[in-house]
Amino acid sequence: MVQINPSILSADFARLADEAEAVRGADWLHVDVMDSHFVPNLTLGTPVVEALSKATSTPLDCHLMIDEPDRWAPQYVEAGAGSVTFHAEAAAAPVRLAREIKALGARASMALKPATPVEQYEDLLPELDMLLIMTVEPGFGGQAFLDIMLPKIRRARRLMDKHGLQMWLQVDGGVSASTIEQCAEAGADVFVAGSSVYGTDDPAAAVRALREQAEE
Ligand code: DX5
Ligand code: ZN
Repeated sequence: MVQINPSILSADFARLADEAEAVRGADWLHVDVMDSHFVPNLTLGTPVVEALSKATSTPLDCHLMIDEPDRWAPQYVEAGAGSVTFHAEAAAAPVRLAREIKALGARASMALKPATPVEQYEDLLPELDMLLIMTVEPGFGGQAFLDIMLPKIRRARRLMDKHGLQMWLQVDGGVSASTIEQCAEAGADVFVAGSSVYGTDDPAAAVRALREQAEE
């Protein structure tokens, strides 16, 4: 099943509740948490996640681009996130962290930056509900899709199939009308889209159009 998760990084931060409403029909709202250490940008933290979770019925998919996720990720579940993604490059004990996120009641997901090989984490996949393959360097919205990541998406899906895993495979970065079909064809089923949704006049229509393209 295809899922479309608009990224509020490209939304108007002064009107987050309205911006959540503007993408009605989306599966999840993708919330990019950046700490200005793991990535060179700073966005928001648990107070905003908590407020947003109260303001919308769309579940929150929190993507933590932060150092020390082992220390901070559980607080995002408590703030109302339905899914929490930590970065493999930052986690000290990814298995323990994934189990803790699940024990608290959220879906556990791990993200890989473009240069991080998926093969290195084959044994961890059964611990995860979702794997996120970054298709840009994390930190900013509106960057160009790295099509050299397509073989990695394919390899990730192959590893999941090999182990009989039903887990989700998310792509994030530069996903748009012109790149989503290639990602779907490679095996992704959860699509994050920031500028290609919020950069349009009708974000809800953009979500519908992306979904149709991914389902083709
Ligand atoms: C980038 C973030 C993305 C970002 C995607 O580091 O993780 O979620 O919002 O934005 P677009 O879709 O514009 O590339
Ligand atoms: Zn993201």
